[in-house]
Formats: sequence, C-alpha cells, structure tokens
Amino acid sequence: MAKEPFIMDHPLIQHKISLLRDKNTSTKEFRELISEIAMLMCYEATRDLPLKAVEIETPIATAKAHIIAGRKIAFVPILRAGLGMVDGILNMVPSAKIGHVGLYRDPETLKPVEYYCKMPTDISERDVIVLDPMLATGGSAIDAINLVKKYGPRSVKFMCVIAAPEGLAALQEAHPDVEIYVGALDERLNENSYIVPGLGDAGDRIFGTK
Ligand code: URA
Repeated sequence: MAKEPFIMDHPLIQHKISLLRDKNTSTKEFRELISEIAMLMCYEATRDLPLKAVEIETPIATAKAHIIAGRKIAFVPILRAGLGMVDGILNMVPSAKIGHVGLYRDPETLKPVEYYCKMPTDISERDVIVLDPMLATGGSAIDAINLVKKYGPRSVKFMCVIAAPEGLAALQEAHPDVEIYVGALDERLNENSYIVPGLGDAGDRIFGTK
C-alpha cells in the first residue's frame, strides 16, 4: 500500500504558491518564490531525520542538546525545472550532495531515454529526495526514481510544488515505498498534459525561456 502523500497546508507555502501561479509574476520573482517554497517544503520533508544527544558547553553551563545523527541526504533535481528548487534547499541543508537526472521520452517508442545522470558516489549511504516542481502525468518522476533506485540509496522521497491527481496516483502505484511531498494538489491535467489551474511551464518560467 502506498503511503499517504504529505500535502502542505502551511500558510506561507500556500501564499507563495498563489503568487507563483499568477501569470504576471516576473521571472525574477518566480525564481525566488520556487526557491523559497522548496526551502519551506524541505523543512517538512526532513522532519524525520534522527537526532542524537550531545553535550554542548554554552558560555554559562553544560547543555544537553540534540544534533542530526550523521544521516546523509542527497537531492536529485529532475532537469530542467527541478534545478529551480536546489538553491532554496541548500539553504536548509548546505552539506547535502546533489545528483542530476535528465530524461526525455522517445516520441516513437515512448520509452524514457536518459540523457544525463550523475549521482554522488556514496549514494548508497544517503537518503535521496527527488525534486521536480510539477508532478503532471507522473512519467518523468517515475522514470527518474527508477533510475535513482538502481544506485541503491537508503531511501527515496519525492517533492513537488504542484501535483495533478493523475500524476500523484501514477507515482503512488509505481513507487508505493516513496513518500511524496506536495505543495498543492490541483484539479486535473488538460489535453496537453498541463496541470489545471497549475502555473504553466515551470521550466520556462524559471529560466525565462518563454
Ligand atoms: N510541466 C510543467 O511545467 N507544467 C505543467 O503544467 C505540467 C508539466
């Protein structure tokens, strides 16, 4: 059975996603918002990191405190739009390593073709969070996670800003073990596989290519 997706209900995330959707939001603002949303979502997606007890000398006394118990994380943006989430996430977890996955679908065979894949060498010791702002049909996320799993990471999570119900269901079915973090769950896909109401093409809006 697939795990329930974690749909963000934090007011700051909802507010920033509303600004992101607005077609009048500039490239600069869009980029900043995606980065900020990713940072806030990362806070939730890392909530289960284990802690260990330590003793710290404050200027006043010895304190019993907690630090993250050496668990290592890698983030894997799906090219190209996933790159827009990396900066914000690194603000939260500066020591994380970053892998990259680039895939496209062969228009004739409809099979995923990997055009770029580079993972941290120690990925088998890492918890991976795969990043893509838009979970539309779920095809890229499913293929990217298939690829990441071949490297044998400790665990895999997936984080997106906006999901369509169709993509969410497909991803849950293909990877029931993967925890999914969603900023907002939209209505549906349109005939061109764009999310409705969505925000348009996330890659074009991040990179100003349209
Ligand atoms: N990718 C996007 O960037 N936008 C969508 O609506 C669907 C897929």
